[in-house]
Amino acid sequence: MKRSTINAILRAADTFIRERGFCLPPFAYWTPDEWRARGPECAEIVDNRLGWDVTDFGTGDFVRTGLTLFTLRNGNPRDPAKKPYAEKILIVEDGQVTPLHFHWRKTEDIINRSGATLVVQLYASTPDEQIDASQSIDISLDGVRRTVAAGSVVRLRPGESITLPPRLYHAFWGEGGRVLVGEVSSLNDDAADNRFLQPIGRFPHIDEDEPPLYLLCTDYERFYVVS
Ligand SMILES: [Fe+2]
Repeated sequence: MKRSTINAILRAADTFIRERGFCLPPFAYWTPDEWRARGPECAEIVDNRLGWDVTDFGTGDFVRTGLTLFTLRNGNPRDPAKKPYAEKILIVEDGQVTPLHFHWRKTEDIINRSGATLVVQLYASTPDEQIDASQSIDISLDGVRRTVAAGSVVRLRPGESITLPPRLYHAFWGEGGRVLVGEVSSLNDDAADNRFLQPIGRFPHIDEDEPPLYLLCTDYERFYVVS
């Protein structure tokens, strides 16, 4: 992805988040120069991969297959007992798919916080980590149990949520407009806890055609140097 595209996505995401009455913490808006001037007091942000995350999942087609996220809080896989939980805010565009994946360890609640409808597709997984096209799935929607067929889609309207346990394949996209989505979960480890059905990249390759507006969580090592 071009950095100029990522910057434009971040501007639009920030506008949408504010319009919906959600507020991000201060480090969301630190510039690259501010990051260069920061010291060891900010290590938790970097070590636990908090902050912005814009991805096309390596497809080169962010509009159809992509996601914009901000990780508000997270623990660290090297010390999971210290903070065993995470929270993200996601911006999901109309028809923009986050491809089928599951997590070996993370349990996550996906919450429609505001906006259009969020569609979530579900499949159980087989022992060899493929989709199980025949097995029905027991789910919990805001504390209400339901059993759905393999490959079913669940539509979440603002305020509604679904609990996604480990090894349950899920894909999601917006329907009828942009959606502000919350994620409340156990510890998040994007380096080692994402199983995508199709082999795709979790983070994009970036063409640096202009300076970053705000850093992505994958940019910190280039700008934040603590001697
Ligand atoms: Fe997920």
